[in-house]
Order: sequence, then C-alpha cells, then structure tokens
Amino acid sequence: MARKIAAGNWKMNNYIVECVDFMGFLSKKRIPKDVDVILAVPYTLLGVSSTMTKESKISISAQNCHHQDKGAYTGEISASMVKRTGASYVLVGHSERREFNQEGNSLIRKKIKSALESDLKVIFCCGESLDIRKDKKHKSYVTKQIKKTILKLPKEAMENVIIAYEPIWAIGTGETATPKQAQKMHKHIRSIIEDKFGKEIAQNTSILYGGSVKPANAKELFSQEDVDGGLVGGASLDPTSFYQIIKSL
Ligand code: PGA
Repeated sequence: MARKIAAGNWKMNNYIVECVDFMGFLSKKRIPKDVDVILAVPYTLLGVSSTMTKESKISISAQNCHHQDKGAYTGEISASMVKRTGASYVLVGHSERREFNQEGNSLIRKKIKSALESDLKVIFCCGESLDIRKDKKHKSYVTKQIKKTILKLPKEAMENVIIAYEPIWAIGTGETATPKQAQKMHKHIRSIIEDKFGKEIAQNTSILYGGSVKPANAKELFSQEDVDGGLVGGASLDPTSFYQIIKSL
C-alpha cells in the first residue's frame, strides 16, 4: 500500500519567525499514524526546521538541488549539502523550476540520481500546461516526463521516490483539477510505473496531487483511489489550513 502523504511547498516564502511558529504549532498536533507529513522549505530554513522536527512525524524537504556533488557552481547547493542540514527529501522537477530555470527532463534525471546517491528521498513533479490539456495531449506529455526520468532508475530506487502530479494550469490559480481528472491521470501514472517496475512497486508508490489543494477540496481529491495525498503550495503557508488538509487524508 502506498503511504498517505501531505506535503507542503513553501516556495520562496517565510522567514525564521514564521518557520518557528509553524513547526511549533504542527509538532503539537496529532498526526494520524498512517499519514506522513513533509514540508519543503527554502534553503535558509532547512537546518532550523530539521532540528525543530527531529522528534516529530514531520520530515523536511529542500525545493531543489544541484545535480553535481560539489565544485565551482557559485550560488548552488548540492544534494549532499541538503542531506547534511538534516533534511530527508528534495523536490525535483517542479514546474516553476522547469519554466523559470529552464530545467528539462535530462537535467531533472541527473538531479534525481544525485539526490538518491546522497540518501535523500525524491518528490518528483510532473504535469502539463493548459495548452497541452486543451490539445488532449496531457497523457502522452506526462508519460514522456516520467519515461525520461524516473523510469530510467533501477527498480530498488523506487521506494525512495514519490510522484506529484501537478497540472500547471491548477498551480496557484485557484483552479483545481476535478477529482475525476486527477484520478484519471493518477491511474495512468500508476499504470506506467506498473508496466516498467511491476504491480507491487506501482501499488507502493505514493502519487500526490498538486494544484490549488485547499481545506475545502482536499477530502474529495484524497478520496480518489489513486490519489495518495497532496503537494500543497499556498495553503501550506497557514498552519491551520495545512493541518486541516493533513486531517483530510
Ligand atoms: P498551489 O501550489 O497549491 O499554490 O497551487 C502547488 C505547488 O506548486 O506545489
């Protein structure tokens, strides 16, 4: 069975004050036994949030890493550096990085490899733009994103990979994929994983939905058979909203 996961993505938001308040609030809350909580915080907050959540059920994630382990890459941070902050995950392939930093599938594949070699778990993001969906090419587009990246991994690596399907047209727009649209794509993604790695791995891989998940729509989205949780942007900035989303799982 795939783990149920509520993951927050703070993007370029929050300073130490908000971070300490947030982690303090969430550490005191009861998190259901079968739910994992992950927070992807800015690099500047990785150390403090990892320390604060050490004894809790909350895991900390970076939002990116460089594909090389070290070297002359001014301004970059490697997966092994992320690991040494105490974080245990890294987001790779988020659509904002694909768009604003021109990250393509082959670079994303290298980042995933580097993260796994540094003993980090990976939250791999995929998803299509509105134009692609309107053209009804969304399935083949997402298939290609997955084929060029995680399908190239060895089978054993899959236990450290979470997939987040995030249709770009639903990110930060207030527009959510309908539960039916999400389920259709998640089922498709699971079938691609099954074709390559077999049924057991496909059943055990968590597939999260992302794109305007809020307390008001989380329950219905999470009730879909192949939706194992959410990757939450905007609504993860408010601890009360994020906790409501955790409780919807
Ligand atoms: P959103 O962002 O929940 O604000 O739409 C989701 C994401 O980008 O991960």
